[in-house]
Amino acid sequence: MFTTALAQNNLTQTAEPPLDLFAAIQALKQELNAVILAHYYQEPDIQDIADYIGDSLGLSKTAANTNADVIVFAGVHFMAETAKILNPNKLVLLPDLAAGCSLADSCPPKAFAAFKAAHPNHLVISYINCTAEIKAMSDIICTSSNAVHIVSQIPKNQPIIFAPDRNLGKYVMEQTGRDLVLWQGSCIVHETFSEKKLVQLKIEYPDAQTIAHPECEPGILAHANYIGSTTALLKYCQQSSASAFIVATESGIIHQMQKETPHKRFIPAPPMNTCACNECPYMRLNTLEKLYWAMKNRTPEIKLSEQMRLAALQPIQRMLEMSV
Ligand code: 13P
Ligand code: SF4
Repeated sequence: MFTTALAQNNLTQTAEPPLDLFAAIQALKQELNAVILAHYYQEPDIQDIADYIGDSLGLSKTAANTNADVIVFAGVHFMAETAKILNPNKLVLLPDLAAGCSLADSCPPKAFAAFKAAHPNHLVISYINCTAEIKAMSDIICTSSNAVHIVSQIPKNQPIIFAPDRNLGKYVMEQTGRDLVLWQGSCIVHETFSEKKLVQLKIEYPDAQTIAHPECEPGILAHANYIGSTTALLKYCQQSSASAFIVATESGIIHQMQKETPHKRFIPAPPMNTCACNECPYMRLNTLEKLYWAMKNRTPEIKLSEQMRLAALQPIQRMLEMSV
C-alpha cells in the first residue's frame, strides 16, 4: 500500500500549482460536487477553506450524512478511512496518504488479537484513533467526546478492554468508576507536554485557565480546569468568562479559538523540549497545495476491502447509535 501511496503522491510534483489556490479549490469543489472536511489540527489555510471543521465525532457524523459525491478529508488516515467505511460509494481523498497517527500505529492488529485472546469475555471499546483492522476487532468505537458516555452505558458486570489510548482510558476510568483493561498506546503530541513548565506558566499567568485534551498524561490533566475533546475545548473557551487559556492539545486548534474569540488570549502549553512537538507531524503533512492536487487528480484515495469495511462499520454504527 505504501508504494501505491508514494506513486499517487508523486502525481502532485509534476506541475506548477495555480497562483490562487483558494479560488482553484473552490472551482474544483463545484466541478466534483465535493465537500471538504477538516480537523482542528490542520494548518490555518485548510481550516479556512473547509466546509466543515470538527472533532472526530463531528467529522464522522458529517461524513455519514453528506450528499457530496467526493469527500476531501483534511485530517489523518484513520479519519478518512472512517469516512470511507461510512461511504463505500463515494470517492474519499486524503491530501497526503502518509498522514498517519502515532496512536493508531501503537496498536498493531496481530498484537491486539493476542491481547484480546488473553482477555476472553471482554467487550472491546476502541477509540476511533485506530486502523480499520482494530475497528473490525472491536465491539464499539468511541471518540474523545463520547468515551465516558459510551462506557457508562455498559452494564457494570461486563468487563471491558479499552484501546488504544492509555491516557484517555485512565481518564474514562476516573470519570465512570469502571475498571478497564487498557491497551498501552499513546499519542506523541499529547505526551509531549511538560508538567514542570506548565506549573511555571500557570504562575506566570495566574488568571489563565488550563484546558486539556484527555489524551494528555495524568500529570497534565491534574492541572486542568477543563478537560474535553477539541470541540468541547472550543465551546468551553467561548462560554467561559476567563480571558486567557493555556491550551494543552495540538496547537492548530488555537487558530479556531482565536477566530471565534479574538479578544481572548490562548497560550500553547509548553512541550518538554524546545521543539514544535505540540504540532502533530502527521496532521501537518497535509497542505493547501496537496489538497488542491488531490482534488485536481482525484488521488490519493482511501481504499479498503469490502470485507474489512463491513467488519469495521458495525462498531462505528454502534457508536453513532449510542452517542447523543
Ligand atoms: P478529537 O476527538 O478531539 O477530535 O481528537 C482527535 C485527535 O486525534 C486528538 O489527538
Ligand atoms: Fe494521532 Fe496524536 Fe496526531 Fe491526534 S495528535 S492524529 S492522536 S498523533
